Amino acid sequence: MQHVNPHQVDPIEADKYVMRDDDSNIERAPHTSAPQRPGLKKIIQLFCLSLDHLSSGQFNIKMPLSRYTSINMLIAKYNSILDILSENHKKQLSFEKSLQEARRTAEQASVSKSRFLANMSHEIRTPINGIIGIARMLEDSPLSPDQKENVSILMDSSIFLSSLINDILDLSKIEAGKLEIENVLFQLDEVIELVKNTISFSAQRKRIRIFTENTSSIDTFLFGDHLRIRQILINLLGNAIKFTPEGGDISLHILTVEKSERVARIKFVVTDNGIGISDDNQKKIFAPFEQGDASTTRKYGGTGLGLSICKKLVELMGGKIGVTSTVGQGSKFWFELPIILGPAAENILPSIDRSAMDLVSFIREKEISILLAEDNPINQIVIKALMKKYSLMVDVVENGIQAIEAVGSGKYHIIFMDCQMPEMDGFEATKHIRNHPDVSISRIPIIALTANAMKGDKELCIKSGMNGFVGKPIDTGEFENVLRTILNPAPCPLPEAP
Ligand SMILES: Nc1ncnc2c1ncn2[C@@H]1O[C@H](COP(=O)(O)OP(=O)(O)O)[C@@H](O)[C@H]1O
Ligand SMILES: [Mg+2]
Repeated sequence: MQHVNPHQVDPIEADKYVMRDDDSNIERAPHTSAPQRPGLKKIIQLFCLSLDHLSSGQFNIKMPLSRYTSINMLIAKYNSILDILSENHKKQLSFEKSLQEARRTAEQASVSKSRFLANMSHEIRTPINGIIGIARMLEDSPLSPDQKENVSILMDSSIFLSSLINDILDLSKIEAGKLEIENVLFQLDEVIELVKNTISFSAQRKRIRIFTENTSSIDTFLFGDHLRIRQILINLLGNAIKFTPEGGDISLHILTVEKSERVARIKFVVTDNGIGISDDNQKKIFAPFEQGDASTTRKYGGTGLGLSICKKLVELMGGKIGVTSTVGQGSKFWFELPIILGPAAENILPSIDRSAMDLVSFIREKEISILLAEDNPINQIVIKALMKKYSLMVDVVENGIQAIEAVGSGKYHIIFMDCQMPEMDGFEATKHIRNHPDVSISRIPIIALTANAMKGDKELCIKSGMNGFVGKPIDTGEFENVLRTILNPAPCPLPEAP
């Protein structure tokens, strides 16, 4: 037997040279096969290697039989466990693969479903808008009481259908990740006012009183998606009206929970004294298609989409939403949003001169109504605010097609028309209005609003049938001159200076 310093040889090779292991108690295998089989030391090293591989998820290092019969039993067991593990691992891999495939298929199906719903609701919206338009025209025509009743049912149903389609469209857009949150300048008071106007009719029908309280002490403009905030409020207030018996009370409270120089966390709380929601139902009503118990659903109808849309919108805007409620006593729905503070109102809105008082009192007396066609939301706010300073009543539309539709109501005295708008520009819309069969509409004064102070623009405005021209940003003096020219107010004495 050779005697070599073990530190100078590869440890795996070591047993070739010397058996220094304490293996005296281990029974050797029959002599014939012994020379090629590894000794105890090599077996231990191979074990370590195999276990290392095993711990990193590889089952490929199997143990060779050793020179010792009793250890070979252990090795055989170990190898068979390796086989089992390797087999299980293969099964798991194939299971994971099929799971991934199934997930991919499900995701694709969900995207296709959302896309289909989005397309379909869009397609359905067009004819519904047609139905609503015709119902409106019918409403304005001479009708017998029975016909009036039928038209009003037609109108209610189509408006309901349209809001349902909008909900489906919203949900499918949200699920397809296609819903974008806008960031435009708005005023909180205006949002509250519009929300109140929208829900007042259904509240009155059930003799429900609505109290609003704004203690947010926000006096600046805000940046955010006012349309979506409005949608959430209308949904929560709509639910409150729906689930509160006749003669109940509802309140909307707006407060600031946190305010820094640039951002405020604004909380909106809708409280009702209606039927309330059980603890179990409170947990599920924010999920799509979930409603309270079946009897509530039967009695009140609905799709269970409203709150899930609210939740998703609030979360898209970085906020949170929740409810506390007691069955039989009422519910308190709240949501909180971080909103970026904009400039102070006085920095945006021009002030009007005291000398304009004659014009203002004339406008008040005659209740002058303006239609503003303007697509840019910031311009809408600024121009509307300026018009309100002159006590003008203003309705806003966003493109030429809407302008033509709105002017048909015959309630406007002047149209202020942006020239560049999507769908139909101001020039085109003016030509349509000038061709209107009703002269009281076709002759309505139209003033162009345009940021393009290009030469020839004025000519283009006049050629398309407009009566005047105001540049953007609007100069108060120029605006006032246009109003004076068109309205020609009777002079009235200036108020005394203080
Ligand atoms: N103010 C409320 N009072 C009582 N229950 C409510 C109120 N708001 C919502 N719920 C419950 O939550 C459910 C889900 O509301 P929503 O998602 O708006 O769907 P829908 O109004 O179409 O049923 C309602 O069906 C109702 O059971
Ligand atoms: Mg609802």
